[in-house]
Amino acid sequence: MATTTKVLLVGATGETGRSIANGLLEAGGFEVFAFTRPASAKKPQLVDLEKKGVITRQCDLEASPAELAEALKDIDIVVSSVGPSDQLSQLKLATAAKVAGVKRFIPCAFITVCAPGGIMWLRDEKEKVFNHVKQLKLPYTIIDVGWWYQIATPRLTSGKIDYAMTTANDELIEEGKTPSAFVDLRDIGKWVARIIVDPRTENKMVFSYNTVMSPAEIFDTVEKLSGEKVDRKNVPKEVVMERVTSGRASSETYPFDATKFTPRIAAEYQLSWGLRGDNVPEYAKYLGYLDAQELYPDFKPISFEEYTKELLGGTAVGVYTDRISRIY
Ligand SMILES: NC(=O)c1ccc[n+]([C@@H]2O[C@H](COP(=O)([O-])OP(=O)(O)OC[C@H]3O[C@@H](n4cnc5c(N)ncnc54)[C@H](OP(=O)(O)O)[C@@H]3O)[C@@H](O)[C@H]2O)c1
Repeated sequence: MATTTKVLLVGATGETGRSIANGLLEAGGFEVFAFTRPASAKKPQLVDLEKKGVITRQCDLEASPAELAEALKDIDIVVSSVGPSDQLSQLKLATAAKVAGVKRFIPCAFITVCAPGGIMWLRDEKEKVFNHVKQLKLPYTIIDVGWWYQIATPRLTSGKIDYAMTTANDELIEEGKTPSAFVDLRDIGKWVARIIVDPRTENKMVFSYNTVMSPAEIFDTVEKLSGEKVDRKNVPKEVVMERVTSGRASSETYPFDATKFTPRIAAEYQLSWGLRGDNVPEYAKYLGYLDAQELYPDFKPISFEEYTKELLGGTAVGVYTDRISRIY
């Protein structure tokens, strides 16, 4: 008799979480549960997932150990994809998962590759959770990903792709020459469906990405396929470093204040993948990651050209459309 793997998704209503839910449902062999706080029980994103067969377990990451245990009952694998401000909320969940006998815990990584220890605040928040999981001796997999196509494309001055843009995204760090790994957000869940049940990835880090390109090549591709010129704003190294310094200086307080931390997070991404060139498969390997493209050579990821054609054809889907007002 076929058995299904019971997966509890924390953050299922979010951008990464919805990709993971869809990836698991498409792959088959999974029973998918959404760990959702009661206030979000009627969110359209959750209702859509429920229609596809996802089962909601109402709970909050701040709930008591008994309530967390109830949410984790009979769960084989936990996958978390919470937003930047909620990383440390996973600590109690990991402790409860250990008690509940969860077989594998996927803490919220899903970020670009960067060594821990002072380069990116967001990376270091995540590493605190990874360390806790390891101290619990809870089986785990850390899955990092490329920079999403959906936030990598530049705006066209004609406004043709505005429907799927969150920002103008017209900056290139040091002319955009530093290669970086990119992923289609929709493929993240497909990678995850393979990785979480693969014995080779237990207690390992895996880097999942679709392609490696320089940001300038991303802009070139959009220009070539659209026939339009993209407005490129060069950002020299000194400007990135000023942004990092001022972002860090104004974000020394906790609890999380998005207005103080968002500029820091954005500047530190630019430092890591834009200047240092951290977000590439070679560096990921150096840090000890397995490469998803090598683990699953039959996987056919969506290429950046394919995504751009969808975008130009008017059928792409923007991200954070429920909460971000356009800023261009
Ligand atoms: N590689 C890239 O290009 C890239 C881009 C963006 C983000 N990321 C990474 O992806 C990760 C996920 O980000 P995202 O933008 O996909 O997330 P998101 O859309 O902001 O969604 C966050 C999710 O966490 C849930 N959540 C937060 N606090 C919770 C709590 N106390 N109890 C239960 N659920 C809670 C939210 O539920 P509600 O519905 O209740 O709010 C929501 O489902 C981030 O940590 C970030 O590092 C990577």
